[in-house]
Amino acid sequence: MNQKSIFLFILLISLSVTNAMPLEKRATKFQDCSAGNFKNAQFINVVMSPDPLVSGKNVTFDVSGSLNHDIKDNGFVRVQLDDENRGHIDRFSANATATKAGQNFDIKTSQHTLPEIPDKYVLTVIIVNPSNPPNPANDIIGCATTRVGF
Ligand SMILES: *[C@@H]1O[C@H](CO)[C@@H](O)[C@H](O)[C@H]1NC(C)=O
Ligand SMILES: *[C@@H]1O[C@H](CO)[C@@H](O)[C@H](O)[C@H]1NC(C)=O
Repeated sequence: MNQKSIFLFILLISLSVTNAMPLEKRATKFQDCSAGNFKNAQFINVVMSPDPLVSGKNVTFDVSGSLNHDIKDNGFVRVQLDDENRGHIDRFSANATATKAGQNFDIKTSQHTLPEIPDKYVLTVIIVNPSNPPNPANDIIGCATTRVGF
């Protein structure tokens, strides 16, 4: 290679490195909750800010998708953080927007201040049409979950 093409080669490598860097900070990938026994739960899209979560900082969630069930007037979004032993770390809810089955919904939760978060945690976001008495197997119509740090 002559000097010019070596320079170009190095430039291309450094460009691909700088381009690759943001990719390493991947957004958290959520999975559906099909391992659970929520027979009505369908996968929902979840985007959080900041991602990953930061102890003591505020977080907002943007939950969207479309479901086979109506989201009822009293439906809500619930965010749950549990540790590796299923101990509760944090829980909070936001009102959902009533939405007919098959229509797109997009729910943004308001600012919530997180507690101290351990290195390993399970984050689950659900959409619930509450019934009385509560019946999670029936009431949970949307769900996404992720295991962080395992
Ligand atoms: C959520 O909905 C309930 C009624 O279902 C209402 O009382 C409450 O003010 C709502 N909260 C917010 C933050 O809009
Ligand atoms: C963080 O959330 C709390 C509780 O909702 C709120 O009072 C506070 O203003 C928020 N702080 C920032 C920087 O958004």
